[in-house]
Amino acid sequence: MVLLTTAYVAHVISAALWTGATLYVVYALWPDAMSGRLSAKSFVSQVHKLLLITRWTGVVLPVTGAYLIWVLYTPLELLVESQRGILVLAMLTLWGVMNGLIEIGILRMRTTVDAVGFGTYMAEGFPSDLVDKSTAVEELAARGRPYLLLSAACAVVLLVVAALLAGGTPF
Ligand code: HEM
Repeated sequence: MVLLTTAYVAHVISAALWTGATLYVVYALWPDAMSGRLSAKSFVSQVHKLLLITRWTGVVLPVTGAYLIWVLYTPLELLVESQRGILVLAMLTLWGVMNGLIEIGILRMRTTVDAVGFGTYMAEGFPSDLVDKSTAVEELAARGRPYLLLSAACAVVLLVVAALLAGGTPF
């Protein structure tokens, strides 16, 4: 019981941090970068932090989520035979899609300034010392924009799914 509560707490804090950070970055940071009001260095430094949040919560969410499935949805048929189970499968799928969008979006941004391989990118992320005053922040932001907009849409749908799990489905 204590373990179940701890898993819920870690899961919900990670979910709030990740979806909140993504929505904030897209709402507050991207427009300033697109119009050149932010320097490339401070923009990339914030984007790298979003990547770190994505990767840390990318460990905590599936680990705690798998534990919750093990406790609440075994036998596993419950995942496909109940409305709540379908919502959990939607949550898992959206998590994978949103992760991919953020990782690929930021990789595309990094490759505008540095022809990096996937392995190095996974190890380093996007360090802000790769950009300087001569880097066009507008171009960086434009390359990542479609991916980050889609990831923000995933974050909103994820929050709706979580709310349906918390409040019960009306149908
Ligand atoms: C690997 C991905 C994930 C898995 C396997 C997973 C699995 C689960 C499970 C099994 C539950 C318990 C459902 C229930 O109470 O019946 C849950 C709850 C929850 N999840 Fe996830 N989840 C994942 C990712 C996410 C993400 C990305 C978010 C971001 C919004 C999120 C937010 C929540 C919230 C807020 C709850 C609590 C809902 C409630 O009050 O019942 N989860 N998750």
